[in-house]
Amino acid sequence: MVDSGSIGLHDLSFATTRFVLPHTELARHNGTEIDKYHLGIGQRSMSVPAVDEDIVTMAAAAARPLVARHGTDGLRTLVFATETSIDQAKAAGVYVHSLLGLPSSTRVVELKQACYSATAALQFAVALVHRDPGQRVLVIASDVSKYDLDSPGEATQGAAAVAMLVSADPALLRVEAPSGLFTADVMDFWRPNYRDTALVDGQESISAYLQAVEGAWKDYGEQGGRGLEEFTAICYHQPFTKMAYKAHRHLLHCCGEDTDDALIARVLGRTTAYNSVVGNSYTASVYLGLAALLDTAEDLSGQAVGFLSYGSGSVAEFFAGTVVPGYRAHLRTNTHREAIDAREPIDYAAYRDLRGSRLPADGTEHLLPRQTQGPYRLAGICDHKRLYEPC
Ligand code: CAA
Repeated sequence: MVDSGSIGLHDLSFATTRFVLPHTELARHNGTEIDKYHLGIGQRSMSVPAVDEDIVTMAAAAARPLVARHGTDGLRTLVFATETSIDQAKAAGVYVHSLLGLPSSTRVVELKQACYSATAALQFAVALVHRDPGQRVLVIASDVSKYDLDSPGEATQGAAAVAMLVSADPALLRVEAPSGLFTADVMDFWRPNYRDTALVDGQESISAYLQAVEGAWKDYGEQGGRGLEEFTAICYHQPFTKMAYKAHRHLLHCCGEDTDDALIARVLGRTTAYNSVVGNSYTASVYLGLAALLDTAEDLSGQAVGFLSYGSGSVAEFFAGTVVPGYRAHLRTNTHREAIDAREPIDYAAYRDLRGSRLPADGTEHLLPRQTQGPYRLAGICDHKRLYEPC
């Protein structure tokens, strides 16, 4: 049995979509002053999926480099976290398992609790590795965030997948044991089964998030967690990057600490680099924050990073990790930047066309044009079965 403090993230990779809608385009369409988006919510653009991209194709694209680098030895579990699932029964991870050619002796399951479930997946993975340190677990968070057209939420959409390999003796980040937990039954954001866009009470969702931050932090302290001053950086769930600033300011205020803007920016600034241009990726968002931090910060070896994972409805968890010395040799910084920079900007009309694209719900065959530049695509649907293929 290994010490649970020596289990964590061995590798991390993300993927996003072919297209990107700059907020200037949205602002031009709806007459909003661009500063509201750039400064007020802290967003500059959002990833928009091509017609043949979805949570499965992004997830497989994110996980492929991990399998290529580490192989499949000891890989016996794949946990897929999402809140924009494509099927009510079958786990999206089973399609990913097939696209990646993973061994049949693998446990595959999907987890849901709004944007929080990737953190549950990570904790379950740590527990599995704790029981058998020879095993490794693939955790994938993948989501497409969609709100009604012309609603306030439209500016906070986005899409991405993050894949993480959890193992003993990790190369990137050791996950520490204490976790602060919080659950409250609130209707701040939800998506009934008959809708493909989320319903949200914007201001209520911000208050619910702040209440959850406070609750999770209080429990973290009671579980023997670190003091706030020990963290070099904190990765918050980022539905829009300004939310991280609101959350940290609230936490400092609750702890009776100085809420100086420069201090807050020092703790959060580097965690927002990818989220501000990708948009809300729901379950993936907090780990996209980690990717940005690791890819852009000076050497963080041995330093403590905090994580605040929030999922509306609501569940939150605060936990910490220690960055492993030598981690920089294992990062995928160039590939991550390429994934963001390679996206093709589209105008508002093209975005509306993509939003209008629908798969038939009556079982008729429908084949999709090839649009993605990624390694896997959704080829179409036939007899109610989604057809995926490598590109
Ligand atoms: N220049 C600079 N700033 C401006 C501005 C301008 N011209 N105009 C407005 N602003 C500022 C406002 O002052 C405001 O800042 P503060 O919050 O600091 O006061 C900010 O821009 C946003 O303005 P509004 O509150 O008026 O914006 P809105 O009513 O259009 O809605 C929103 C914003 C509530 C975030 C909306 O986009 C939304 O509903 N998004 C989806 C829900 C969401 O993301 N909730 C977050 C918590 S829930 C969660 O985290 C789970 C999840 O992933 C969904």
